[in-house]
Amino acid sequence: MSGYKVGLHAIENASVDELRGLQLERLKRTLHHVYANSPVYKAKFDAHGVHPDDLKQLSDLSKFPTTSKADLRDNYPFGMFSKPMVEVVRVHASSGTTGKPTVVGYTQNDIDTWSDIVARSIYAAGGRPKDKVHVSYGYGLFTGGLGAHYGAERLGCTVIPMSGGQTEKQVQLIKDFDPDIIMVTPSYMLNIADEMSRQGIDHNKIALRLGIFGAEPWTEAMRNEMQTRMSMDVVDIYGLSEVMGPGVAQECIETKDGPTIWEDHFYPEIIDPITGEVLPDGEEGELVFTSLTKEAMPVIRYRTRDLTKLLPGSARTMRRMGKITGRSDDMLIIRGVNVFPTQIEEQICNVSGLSPHYQIELSKKGNMDSVNIRVEKQPEVSTQMCDQLMKKLASNVKTFIGISSSIELIEPGVLPRSEGKASRVIDNRKK
Ligand code: DLL
Repeated sequence: MSGYKVGLHAIENASVDELRGLQLERLKRTLHHVYANSPVYKAKFDAHGVHPDDLKQLSDLSKFPTTSKADLRDNYPFGMFSKPMVEVVRVHASSGTTGKPTVVGYTQNDIDTWSDIVARSIYAAGGRPKDKVHVSYGYGLFTGGLGAHYGAERLGCTVIPMSGGQTEKQVQLIKDFDPDIIMVTPSYMLNIADEMSRQGIDHNKIALRLGIFGAEPWTEAMRNEMQTRMSMDVVDIYGLSEVMGPGVAQECIETKDGPTIWEDHFYPEIIDPITGEVLPDGEEGELVFTSLTKEAMPVIRYRTRDLTKLLPGSARTMRRMGKITGRSDDMLIIRGVNVFPTQIEEQICNVSGLSPHYQIELSKKGNMDSVNIRVEKQPEVSTQMCDQLMKKLASNVKTFIGISSSIELIEPGVLPRSEGKASRVIDNRKK
């Protein structure tokens, strides 16, 4: 049983020296643990000519090899575990779009630690014991639902384990049960908010005071839109299954300035995605994590593919991460310009009359990439105004992102709705 206590924990406001000391001790232990118990890590370290004893200070971590999704795939399903299967009490898996899923495992201690960290995250987000928490993240192999659930229970909240989907029912339960907090992907929240409007529900009369959004990239513009529309605070929660699940980092409500990384459990680095070189704080690159307390499946220098930068601590001693602009896998290269779907989302949110339901379709016209942005208009927009809105969006996309695009304005409710992570890009260029 964990000794979780509600409130701010000493380590969250400890001195940087104390934090680094704890990290070093935990990092040494983790490296020895994987070297002794995971044939995969032992082979990787040996091939790289490094031994856990080579780590004398935190910066020595850069001598160790990185780990990637390919390592998990190559050792499918349980080959990355550093504990015997009898000690693994749960597995999760992320589906990915192609090939085998990546599988992760947890001991009972891992589940306890994870629950404590998610409880800490919800507390930092502004949640308190006795709050009712409506969980719309999917339950099952995805870590979102169960991760949020155990954390909210640990904090002492009442959990409504709704999972994703059944949007009408989501709205009914939100109306009838009066939850204080909703944990959901931003794209699905939009869908739920639209369903409320469709049912003629006044968003201001809904009890919800806090949204904890994550699992996909989203923008400041989307935060503003959802805060205004739902009259609630909205904060960002970050995580990935390979490292733990939701709660690797959490934005604090008092600052709303990017997720604080729970550095006593996860050691972050930013690397140049091409050369692998470690970059100084403040520089943008690929986020890499080493787990410091996991037992069943520790990860050493796991390459997340997420692009961001490390920022100094604000509400806590621990460093923050900048908002994720996108995954390197999601980056579109359009006529040589690197574009993330979130950049287009930002432009859409900034044109009033458009709704953030959109799709980006890419195709080839001869040798040239062509971009078509399909976006739904708000119900009140008249046909006469459409032309003006399309021109405005095309011009903003050209000015701020640097690409020419055609815009298709469509009626509300036409585009497919997300019930979890949104999929917004149709790339026909390779067909
Ligand atoms: O999405 C875990 C999670 C569940 C996080 C619920 C937050 C809330 P995976 O399915 O393994 O795990 O996907 C991880 O999702 O590498 C990011 O690319 C993206 N992601 C997660 N949170 C955020 C966020 C969960 N707050 C991948 N902002 C990560 C941007 C995010 N991207």
